[in-house]
Amino acid sequence: MGRKLAFGWLAAAAAALSLTVAASAARAQETPPLPHQQWSFDGVFGTYDIAALQRGFQVYKQICSACHPVKHLFFRDLAALDYTPDQIKALAASYKCTAGPNDQGQMYERPCLPSDPIPGPFPNDEAAKAANGGALPPDLSMVVKAREGGPDYVFAILNGFVPAPAGFHVVQGKYYNEYFPGHNISMPPPLSDGAVTFADGTKATVPQMAHDVVTFLSWAAEPNLDTRHRIGARVFLFLIVGVGIFYAAKRKIWAAVH
Ligand code: HEC
Repeated sequence: MGRKLAFGWLAAAAAALSLTVAASAARAQETPPLPHQQWSFDGVFGTYDIAALQRGFQVYKQICSACHPVKHLFFRDLAALDYTPDQIKALAASYKCTAGPNDQGQMYERPCLPSDPIPGPFPNDEAAKAANGGALPPDLSMVVKAREGGPDYVFAILNGFVPAPAGFHVVQGKYYNEYFPGHNISMPPPLSDGAVTFADGTKATVPQMAHDVVTFLSWAAEPNLDTRHRIGARVFLFLIVGVGIFYAAKRKIWAAVH
């Protein structure tokens, strides 16, 4: 009887211990809740801030585009950022696009045109992985839609490079990121204060650049938001006026009865 009881205690203690270990392992993997940012495009009447879009494109072009493509964007789409046709033409021409085949059956390189998609940094995913320690830098043109938490998540990742807590094992060739699932991310911290110089004099702090580039990437993922909101606002107004007219009509029609 005594032996049985002792065994029972032992089993209970072992179970409790394994639970604690499992819980602390889970805690090491957990990511804190995403801090919510103020976005100009939030809410029913949200719109994109053009100055932020231009700064964000600059951050993408000067920093992120070394590793990440924006596969769904064409040069001509940048007209939405208030660039003139000449500016877009010049920007496109500063990139090389593959065209062809020519009459010899060969593909060849030529300066890009506004009608071309913006070329990414690597010819294919295998080359991208080989250059990034086996991890694929994802296409950023849809990433805001593709990740839970959307713009807040991408913003948190860009600001989430903090020193690893004591005892946390950072895998060789990876970096600790507070908000990345599992915390080991293959992306080196891409932003540092003053990494770009903004033409409009905005100070290029890490949170500022992150906020601007996320605004740009949100636009890339949903470029028609402004139109959608404008139409939504008009429909809303129409409905309110409609309800008013119907109410007035109802009172007039029923006035005789009352
Ligand atoms: C030196 C190359 C490099 C640069 C520069 C870089 N990244 Fe990355 N990025 C990566 C790699 C590699 C991954 C894949 C990480 C992984 O899966 O562990 C990644 C992943 C990401 C992710 C996805 C995280 C997830 O949830 O899967 C986002 C978002 C991102 N990068 C945004 C950016 C932005 C924005 C910039 C520019 C400010 C940038 N990156 C610059 C290499 C880079």
